[in-house]
Amino acid sequence: MRKKIVAGNWKMNKDLAETQALISDLKKSLPATNAEVKIAPTFTNLYPAYEALKDSDVEVVAQNMHQEENGAFTGEISASMLKSIGITTVILGHSERRAYFGEDDALLAKKVDAAIKNDMDVIFCFGEELDDRKADKHFSLVESQLTNALFHLGEDAWKHIVLAYEPVWAIGTGETASPEQAQEMHEFIRKTIAKKYNQTLADGVSILYGGSVKPANAEEIFSKPDVDGGLIGGASLKAEDFVGIVKAI
Ligand code: PGA
Repeated sequence: MRKKIVAGNWKMNKDLAETQALISDLKKSLPATNAEVKIAPTFTNLYPAYEALKDSDVEVVAQNMHQEENGAFTGEISASMLKSIGITTVILGHSERRAYFGEDDALLAKKVDAAIKNDMDVIFCFGEELDDRKADKHFSLVESQLTNALFHLGEDAWKHIVLAYEPVWAIGTGETASPEQAQEMHEFIRKTIAKKYNQTLADGVSILYGGSVKPANAEEIFSKPDVDGGLIGGASLKAEDFVGIVKAI
């Protein structure tokens, strides 16, 4: 079912004490909202974050996971390990995973399958680089990312999928897609899903925008009809800014 969502991706930031301090600030200041609010601390802080928030409306989610169930994969974390500490949602396909850790669509398809097999929800990130947009290839690139990583899924699996369109040129750069650019792409994404599956399924998918969302621009971006919320990086690291964004939805 389509929901409003604001999710904070903390990336490789905040040690244990800092994580606890930010969570405590968020608990004091987050407003009541109809939107789902999620935070994604780093792996080592997932369990303390989960414990601190399990009686709240804020969900703690993972930033990544491995596609295999277990085995000789030094340094990796599986879906069942996440589930064993209460984590049931994972971000997959973030552009930093794609760029710095070589994750491609084929690998991401496997990770998505592993998450769904374990009954986990996925926030699936994708989006074009600046060169793609300059060359007017952004629509075809986004369509191929969806096709390659997600369009093998059966209709039923889509209840586990939230999409996060994140133009790479807008991530951490201070450069935001205009609300019109975001709406144009989100509408295209929904149409592409409707073409592959059906309109009812497409209308039920939450599509978040990510890339330099801040309190000052959140309301206008969230006001667009096909934008169902945001995946927030930098601005999720400060309680005041994240709360400002949650208030904007
Ligand atoms: P940003 O990051 O808000 O810092 O641009 C967004 C993201 O990477 O999800």
